[in-house]
Amino acid sequence: MAPRKIIIDTDPGQDDAVAILLALASPEEIEVLGITAVAGNVPLELTAKNARIVCELAGHTHIPVYAGCDRPLNRPLVTAEHVHGKTGLDGPVLPDPEMPLADGHAVDFIIDTLRAHEPGTVTLCPLGPLTNIASAFQKAPDIVDRVREIVLMGGAYFEVGNITPAAEFNIYVDPEAADIVFKSGAHIVVMPLDVTHDALVTPHRNDAFRALDSKVGHAVAEMTDFFERFDKEKYGSEGAPLHDPCVTAYLIRPELFSGRHINVEIETQSELTLGMTVADWWRVTDRAPNAMFMGDVDAQGFFDLLTERLARL
Ligand code: BDR
Ligand code: CA
Repeated sequence: MAPRKIIIDTDPGQDDAVAILLALASPEEIEVLGITAVAGNVPLELTAKNARIVCELAGHTHIPVYAGCDRPLNRPLVTAEHVHGKTGLDGPVLPDPEMPLADGHAVDFIIDTLRAHEPGTVTLCPLGPLTNIASAFQKAPDIVDRVREIVLMGGAYFEVGNITPAAEFNIYVDPEAADIVFKSGAHIVVMPLDVTHDALVTPHRNDAFRALDSKVGHAVAEMTDFFERFDKEKYGSEGAPLHDPCVTAYLIRPELFSGRHINVEIETQSELTLGMTVADWWRVTDRAPNAMFMGDVDAQGFFDLLTERLARL
């Protein structure tokens, strides 16, 4: 089968970086048409830089990286340096990128790419706030029907929130954008915290990255070493959750994940529960299903896949 054409929309972020590396290491299944940066974990200037650092780490300097929206649709930007460090990619020492940003705005790249390809052939993979995707849908509503699928990391139901008691970070930062995307009618697959909190880098799994004894293996081990201190302290967990790589792993091995096709609405009004993904997991309403909301991952299968693919870089 031909590899799946994707656009990665991202705010790197150590876990975004690993998601990108996994995609670039998997050309049989995934063709990365471009990477679009959005403000999120850190401001846009840094996410656009970090995306290029990651491409260079993987030796894929031909991938176009576009800068996108520098703030949410209707709100000031909330960032997460407390998790990802000042640069967003704290941990390993990596050189500044030499590859330039691609000309043009990320939102236009998303629109032009969807229009240039056969309908139903391009998948969007958002790993950060949904600002770029919602802006593209607002600017060019004709592209929504051309999207094959949106596979995104965001939201939570049983795990509730990580940035507020009720909301997950990516959705919380730009709830209006998330609302546009979830109401768009596009096919959506969601990797919420319910799944990603099971994709934990235990010491043993991190040793396996380090044992690859390559530039990429060491960088990934050092990124997760840095990133894990926060979750260990907060949840008392064994290591860092690799949230965003669940998205790219799904494109390679969908059978590692299971969930339910249900209705998911985004809270945009309440101050207390802003950005909550109200997921009708028990199907107690008659609201129409609009997303495949994942609930389980085969964590060991996921880490075996990740380690095997990172070894290729
Ligand atoms: C999400 O927020 C970011 O901090 C991570 O990169 C991930 O995309 C997890 O809530
Ligand atoms: Ca992210």
